[in-house]
Amino acid sequence: MNLTRRHALRLLGASAVAVPAAGLLVAAVRDRVDTVGRVAFTNRLQAPPLAPSRLDSAGRRVFDLRIRAGQREFVSGRPSSTWGVDSDYLGPTLRARRGERVLVNVANGVDETTTLHWHGMHLPPEMDGGPYQPIEPGATWSPTWTIDQPAASLWYHPHPHGRTARHLYRGLAGMFLVDDNPVPGLPHRYGIDDVPLIVQDRRLDGGRLDPDEPMSGTTGFLGDHLLVNGILGPYLEVTTTRIRLRLLNGSNARVYDFAFADGRPFAQIASDGGLLSAPHGTRHVQLAPGERAEIVVALTPGERVVLRSASPATGAGLVQRDGGADRFDVLELRAAPTLTNSPELPDHLAALPPLPAHTAVRTRTFELAEHHINGRKMDPRRIDARVGKDTTEIWEVRSGDGTLHTFHVHDVQFQVLSVDDRKPPPELSGWKDTVLLPPGTRMRLIMRFADYADPHRPYMFHCHMLYHEDQGMMGQFLVLDPGQAAAPLPLPGGHPSHH
Ligand code: C2O
Ligand code: CU
Repeated sequence: MNLTRRHALRLLGASAVAVPAAGLLVAAVRDRVDTVGRVAFTNRLQAPPLAPSRLDSAGRRVFDLRIRAGQREFVSGRPSSTWGVDSDYLGPTLRARRGERVLVNVANGVDETTTLHWHGMHLPPEMDGGPYQPIEPGATWSPTWTIDQPAASLWYHPHPHGRTARHLYRGLAGMFLVDDNPVPGLPHRYGIDDVPLIVQDRRLDGGRLDPDEPMSGTTGFLGDHLLVNGILGPYLEVTTTRIRLRLLNGSNARVYDFAFADGRPFAQIASDGGLLSAPHGTRHVQLAPGERAEIVVALTPGERVVLRSASPATGAGLVQRDGGADRFDVLELRAAPTLTNSPELPDHLAALPPLPAHTAVRTRTFELAEHHINGRKMDPRRIDARVGKDTTEIWEVRSGDGTLHTFHVHDVQFQVLSVDDRKPPPELSGWKDTVLLPPGTRMRLIMRFADYADPHRPYMFHCHMLYHEDQGMMGQFLVLDPGQAAAPLPLPGGHPSHH
């Protein structure tokens, strides 16, 4: 037996059944990662700090953020170079209410041009923080907009064209929580019974992050250690009988399927863009990069239970190469000996007015394959879709190359009309901005492009597997007033193009 084959057999583990042909093996060789039962939960996890804010004379809520380089000891005694937002790694949680006007001053204190994108936010395109809003080293970018969407767990991350994977990997990301009228019965005390969990897989070579984001599976970087809010081996102290966890998959390429070690049921209460209409009782929740879910789980006094990520369901189309056989211990919840009683979850959470298919003025199709969308790579000089302001469209999306992709649209929250012509499952029944596209699956998404038209600035749509995105699996769309023509595009980086 040659070395490659022996190595591969070892990777397949004791349960190796059939040995595929040697050629396939070479392509498939990647250490299967299994940290279940092997994580010492020794580091106390806390919610990311809330970003301070102030009201200016115009009544705007103002945040000051600074992107900077730092050092973080993920493993004690072994510092790693990192990036963060007002921190060595990751950034604070921004929080604002629906109806408030916000102003965010984002200073770039690192030596590369980057951007900060408000993922999931409905806002004018020049405030979006995509590739068209570069922040040069030493510069400050100050977007302002009015929060106008339901309560949701949104997030922010860099979006420089071709370098998103690297910048996010180094540590630039954080949550942006939108508040609306409180729903009685939902845990809502930040950091106590309402805790964001930013889950990221990393490779820690002697404690160091490789800042250049090595490539591994076909979807991009896959790490063998998990960080939650930047903490390795985390435990969370719980003091209430129910806790709300706002899960964000902030990884470059990995898909998780979260479940508790004892299989206990919990309630999913929200998806990317806000609350579901009612709590969805389940035992697991799957998240692709960029997706969020809020869950509420019950604990009894004194108990400890581990949140795990197992192999995502076979329907996800994940193969071992893309991490489909990997398992992780994510986080240990430690309940205090006595717990404060939480109220029962309400039966009803939010009004979710359906966007009926017949209101759509057109259907577009997008096929994701080989780092292209509809056979084309992202080209800043090309507008891929011109959409009418205040119109509704159906975007039919699918993976066309037998591998795993995701689909994310800026500016809007959409509804999933159908998955392979079937009604979407409960976890896809609410507002979404990112979906996993298993090979062969066809999803019909319906979305309304309200409020903001701009002939100069496009929004992006793309695969949120960051390696794919950086390779050009991205397109751009303009939202236009009736009769408005697209203006010449300023290229990312600020040079106008005429075509
Ligand atoms: Cu989360 Cu275009 O990004
Ligand atoms: Cu992709």
